[in-house]
Amino acid sequence: YTLKFNSLCIEKKENCSHIGSFFVGPRKKFMDQLRQKTIVSSWNEWDPLKHVIVGKADGACIPAPEPALDAKVPEDSDMRGQFGPRPKEMVDKANELLDQFASQLEGRGIRVDRPTPMEFNQKTSTPDWQAETMFGCMPPRDVLLTVGKEILEATMSYRCRWFEYLCYRPLLQKYYDEDSEMRHEAAPKPRLTDHDYRQDYLSDKIGVQKRLEWTANKFFVTTEEEVLFDAADVLRFGKDLVVQHGFTTNLKGIDWLARHFPGHRVHTVNFPGDPYPIHIDATFTPIKPGLIMNNPQRRLPEEQREMFDKNGWEIIDSAQPAHNSPPPLCYSSVWLSMNVLVLDTKTVCVEKSEVYQAEQLDKLGMEVVEVDLRDAYAFGGGLHCCTADVYREGTCEDYFPIQ
Ligand code: ALA
Repeated sequence: YTLKFNSLCIEKKENCSHIGSFFVGPRKKFMDQLRQKTIVSSWNEWDPLKHVIVGKADGACIPAPEPALDAKVPEDSDMRGQFGPRPKEMVDKANELLDQFASQLEGRGIRVDRPTPMEFNQKTSTPDWQAETMFGCMPPRDVLLTVGKEILEATMSYRCRWFEYLCYRPLLQKYYDEDSEMRHEAAPKPRLTDHDYRQDYLSDKIGVQKRLEWTANKFFVTTEEEVLFDAADVLRFGKDLVVQHGFTTNLKGIDWLARHFPGHRVHTVNFPGDPYPIHIDATFTPIKPGLIMNNPQRRLPEEQREMFDKNGWEIIDSAQPAHNSPPPLCYSSVWLSMNVLVLDTKTVCVEKSEVYQAEQLDKLGMEVVEVDLRDAYAFGGGLHCCTADVYREGTCEDYFPIQ
C-alpha cells in the first residue's frame, strides 16, 4: 500500500501537498531510493526513461593540444591555443544548471545518479603517450553505451579522455552489485599512438571547404590502425544499432561493435555536410518509432536511407537552431538545438532557448519540457550528451523487419 501510495505521489505531486513536509526533501529521496530496485536495461532512445546518469562540470578542463583534438576544435574557435581548467564561474553556473536538470527529472519520477569527478587538471600517460590535461565528466553519453542489460565503456579516441571511464566506475560497480543480470563491459583500450591520426589534420589552416571535401570522402582524422569508437556515435533502435563513421569512430570500431553485439544489426552511416563529424546526436535524432529528425545541413545520403524508407520510417528536417553561434569556449555547433532527451514517446526535453526546436516538437504532438542548459554546453554538449541511460522500460523490438 505504501509503495503504491508513494508512486502516486511521485507522479501527481500536486495531490500530495496536504501531507505536509513528511515526504519532502532528503528524507523522501532517501526512502524512495531504498525502495527502488536497480534495473539496468535500455534498448532504444525513446521508451519511458526511469533511471539516468546526469554529468557534472566539476574541474572540467579545456584539454591540451593532441592530434585528434586539434582536428576537432573549429578553426575559428576561441579555444585554440589555450588549455587548462575552465573558469570557476562557468563551472559553477554549469553545475547549477545540471543540478536543476537532475531535479526536473527527479520531479518526474526518474531516478538520477551523478558521476564522481576526478582531478582533471593532471598529466596522464600510458607507455605510448602523455597528455597534459584530462577533459571532464559532463557528457556521460560519450563514454557509456547501454544496450539492453549491458553498459559498455567505449574505447574513446582522444588521449585526454582515455581515463574518463573512472568517473563512472563507482556507479557501474554499484549497478553490477545491485542488478545480478547487469553486464559491465569495457571495449579494448586503444593505444592511441600517432598512427591513429592522419597527419593531414594537424594543420590549423585547412579551411572549412577542404574539411567538407575530406569528410564527404570519409577521409577523417582517425585512421584504421585499431578499434576506436565513442559511445555517442551510436543510436539504439532495438535490434538495430546505427553508428556514425566520423572523427571519433572508425570502421574497425563499428566492426568491433557488430562482433560484440551478434544479436544486433549494426549499420554504418555518415553525414556529409559536417566539417567536424563527432557524435551523432546533433545530427540524427530519433523521437519515437517511425520518426527521426535529421540536421538539414548534414542530411543522410540517399543510399543510406533504404532501411528507414522500406520500413516506413519518416526522416524529417529538424528545426533551425535559435542561435547563430555556440556559447563561449564550446566545442559543439549550434545544432545542439536538436540534442534533445526523449523521456517517452510523448515527452521530450528541449533546451529552453531553442524555441524553434520546441515549436517543431510541440507541433508533432510532443509535450515539451523546457530545460535551461545553454550555459553548460561548453562542458560537453546538450541534453542528450549530458545524460546516459541506465533504465528505460520496454524490450528489444525489431523496428526494421524488412532488411
Ligand atoms: N559534434 C556535434 C555538433 O556539435 C555535437 O554538432
